Amino acid sequence: MIQGIQAMAVTDDKIRTSARWITFFFAAWSVFTALNVMPVLSQGTGSLTGPVHFLENYESRSDAQHFRLLNSGQQVQLVLDEYSASGFGSKYQYLFGKIGMSMKLVPGNSAGTVTAYYMSSQTPGLHDEMDFEFLGNVSGQPYILQTNVYANGEGKREQRIYLWFDPTAEFHSYSVLWNKQQIIFYVDNTPIRVYKNNKDIGVPYPDSKAVGIYSTIWNGENWATNDGWTKLNWTYSPFVATYESFGVDACRVENGNTASCIAQSNSWWMQSEYQTLGAHQVDELAWVRKNYLLYDYCADKKRFPVAPAECARNPL
Ligand SMILES: *[C@@H]1O[C@H](CO)[C@@H](O)[C@H](O)[C@H]1NC(C)=O
Ligand SMILES: *[C@@H]1O[C@H](CO)[C@@H](O)[C@H](O)[C@H]1NC(C)=O
Repeated sequence: MIQGIQAMAVTDDKIRTSARWITFFFAAWSVFTALNVMPVLSQGTGSLTGPVHFLENYESRSDAQHFRLLNSGQQVQLVLDEYSASGFGSKYQYLFGKIGMSMKLVPGNSAGTVTAYYMSSQTPGLHDEMDFEFLGNVSGQPYILQTNVYANGEGKREQRIYLWFDPTAEFHSYSVLWNKQQIIFYVDNTPIRVYKNNKDIGVPYPDSKAVGIYSTIWNGENWATNDGWTKLNWTYSPFVATYESFGVDACRVENGNTASCIAQSNSWWMQSEYQTLGAHQVDELAWVRKNYLLYDYCADKKRFPVAPAECARNPL
């Protein structure tokens, strides 16, 4: 489970108030569009990249010092300083679809910081979770992107890569395509990892629980940078990560009714071309693994003398 989220109980009244207005506005807008067209209300807000106000799908979990709503809600920033970690979360829960966001990570000396972007179910002890965790570094040294998958509370499936660009210089999108057959982690349009449904050989797979979408930035100096040897230096704070693209192209779970998302076979992400990686994607994934892979739990013989069952099937 990701730490740091606990540190963020305070919510700013101003953000609340504007959230109410925005909610009102979008409620009105939804009614309007529902009357006119759009049979897609249960599928989130369509494209991941179109202009969607942050407060349509998300809310801050921080105070005004640690959360900034910018550019008419088209961007937000999370701020980590000596006083607090910070975070935001989705207003809704989802089950299957494409979920992602564009991020520009903490620039300069970010050693010891962890910026997490993840989806997690609210089912303590048995949670499903899909994680992107960005481990900061001293200036000029590369971030590590760690991904992980939890199903029924079982995690320990870390993979780590370097990125092929500087993630602090520009926005890049980080997303998952999630359906009954597979979870593909993407960086922009490049698949960096696939976690297949291997329930037939007893491997748990997240396919029944609704997840919320979260991001947090927190002090992870005890393990993050150079395996915890490089500590966070508050001289460089505040540490600021910037986000945009707040659409969610996924099945929204209404009133806990997960069954309708599970049965929704006409969604684009359920179609056959999304049930396996295409040949081109297989090549791209191989390129990432060959050039940027740092760590794969499947190859960690010390930790797993017998590799977990799914490793023979998820590509190494
Ligand atoms: C930080 O930079 C060092 C030196 O280049 C590298 O070994 C390490 O993997 C980088 N990333 C993290 C998160 O430690
Ligand atoms: C933190 O960074 C400042 C500025 O570079 C430096 O003077 C100081 O020694 C650093 N502190 C630690 C504990 O490394």
